[in-house]
Amino acid sequence: MNILALETSCDETSASVILNGAKVKSLVISSQIKIHAKYFGVVPEVASRAHLENINPVIVETLKKSEISFSDFSKKIDAIAVTAGPGLAGALLVGIIAAKTMASIYKKPLIPVNHLEGHLYSAFIGNKSIKPPFLSLIISGGHTEIMIVEDFGKYKILGGTRDDAVGEAFDKAAKMLGLEYPGGPIIDKRAEKGNPATVNFTRPYLKGSWDFSFSGIKTALLNYLKNNSIKTEQHLNDICASFRQAIAETLCFKAFEGAKKFNLKQIVLGGGVSANSLIRSMFMQEGKKNKIKIFIPSFIYCTDNAAIIGYAAYLKQKKCGLNYNNIQLKPNPSLSLVNW
Ligand code: KG4
Ligand code: ZN
Repeated sequence: MNILALETSCDETSASVILNGAKVKSLVISSQIKIHAKYFGVVPEVASRAHLENINPVIVETLKKSEISFSDFSKKIDAIAVTAGPGLAGALLVGIIAAKTMASIYKKPLIPVNHLEGHLYSAFIGNKSIKPPFLSLIISGGHTEIMIVEDFGKYKILGGTRDDAVGEAFDKAAKMLGLEYPGGPIIDKRAEKGNPATVNFTRPYLKGSWDFSFSGIKTALLNYLKNNSIKTEQHLNDICASFRQAIAETLCFKAFEGAKKFNLKQIVLGGGVSANSLIRSMFMQEGKKNKIKIFIPSFIYCTDNAAIIGYAAYLKQKKCGLNYNNIQLKPNPSLSLVNW
């Protein structure tokens, strides 16, 4: 099963060719970060227009990298996968129209993919040893979800964020600190040079619930900045390290509590924030201590990209077949996870 996958849910226009469900033959990502940076966040209308400009060149480039021409497309590609939601309506629409057009020209089945399932299974790419059941923690710019994956496509959601998604909290904190967008990677880099014991942000463990809440840490940072001006680069790095530490400990605490409570021996991370160096190392360390296997996506598959969509599509069609109505597919900005 060879799949051409498209992803346009937010600010990355991406296409990928996945061969036999296992090999990412090509992956092209056109990022709009520079366009949105001056607004400190993604502007939906601007994103849709940029996707419109980028989608065709991105598809052409990914096919070229896979040495697939339009004349042998039908022979070499078996299905087209596309993100159906959640995400920005206009942005999703661009990917869906492109996918529908190609599916109808080449008479190929279209596989709609939930963006969250892309992140959920992203650590599986190139890693055959993960098998459900496991605890999944999706940590991205738009989502913070903790769930039990009993089988492929069989989910028991434990909790989510009550306010900001964890990536959003990083991005907003960066803005308060006068840093650029997206703030997650910048805070991460500065934190490497900082002292995490500088500011003692309370950890929002919300004991008794599986939910998360990051708005308190954000307010604590705001209050700290009201009372303390940033004196030096080192001071800024120290604040970043303290903020990152509080977030990483909170995520780690919840995930390991969940794994222990439900007797799960594997934790699988996904989403842009799983690129965070402290989160990666803290989970690995705790995993060793608690004899729980930790799976984290390769850096390239942490943030939004079409390879993770193609891989989720591969898993989905393997279990459910290819019985989708190509014409009826519409973007669903608030698509939730449903069992297959
Ligand atoms: O998964 P993603 O590309 O988009 C969504 O589906 O939301 O995640 C983007 C988010 C941004 O908020 C970004 O700041 C965050 O991931 N991020 C990080 C790091 N790299 C990306 N957050 C913390 N540390 C990082 N190294
Ligand atoms: Zn995402």
